[in-house]
Amino acid sequence: MKVLSTITEMQTEMIKHKASGKTIGFVPTMGFLHEGHLTLLKKARKENDIVVLSIFVNPLQFGPNEDFSTYPRDFDRDRKLAEKENADYLFYPSVEEMYPQKSSVTVTVHERTDVLCGKSRPGHFDGVATVLTKLFHIVMPTNAYFGKKDAQQVAVVEGLIKDFHFPIVLVPVDIVREEDGLAKSSRNINLLPAERVQAASLSRSLKLAQSAIEQGERNPLNISAMIKEMIENETDAAVDYIEIYSYPQLQPLEILKGTIIIAMAVKFTKVRLIDNVIMTID
Ligand code: PAF
Repeated sequence: MKVLSTITEMQTEMIKHKASGKTIGFVPTMGFLHEGHLTLLKKARKENDIVVLSIFVNPLQFGPNEDFSTYPRDFDRDRKLAEKENADYLFYPSVEEMYPQKSSVTVTVHERTDVLCGKSRPGHFDGVATVLTKLFHIVMPTNAYFGKKDAQQVAVVEGLIKDFHFPIVLVPVDIVREEDGLAKSSRNINLLPAERVQAASLSRSLKLAQSAIEQGERNPLNISAMIKEMIENETDAAVDYIEIYSYPQLQPLEILKGTIIIAMAVKFTKVRLIDNVIMTID
């Protein structure tokens, strides 16, 4: 596995592979890899000639009071994991390499950002779309792999690829969970021990909602109230949002019908966790 940290080196290698007709699978991450990322890498390995992993904690997508400085980082561990998954390239640029001066052009996302994480994290998806535009130009992937835990990100990236005509296939991959149901996340490490136990309530409450819908409940307000009650009874966390929309359009619904997303964000002492379920109702 080659570890490259400059854009020029990376582009030179990718142009070479493209010219020889190779397919490139790309897994963009912010590092501190967990099983969710490894699942993306495994899928990319199966479906492409060349696999590229990027690790870059992108300052542009963090708000001033968010966890950019405390976002977990462990490059040596990540490098070993990427090697074990047979990645061909690990792109690991510095902030100076990616943003050598104040950007004169950035990407603004106009749709699907006034709900869910976009509402409580203004500018977050502009930062994601901007860095992905750069990374797509650097890596030139055939296929790009994203986890469905960040379902709003998947919807936004779908718009970015379509609107900017990137010749890239977006491959959304199912959420990977711990044994007790907690969605795998690099941020889970920042849960206090008691909170780690409580955090299983997020997926439990989604399961409860799912089975209520399966039994005929169609009122989104009743579903969100049910989830809220469970989180408040079982955790010390503060609910940031519990929202239900059509997916991937992210439009509000009066009655549950079609493909929907039930999504939540919950704040623990040092970490805010998200989780969701996407389901189709006849
Ligand atoms: O999902 C992430 O880790 C980040 O938002 C991404 C896609 C790597 C962009 O910085």
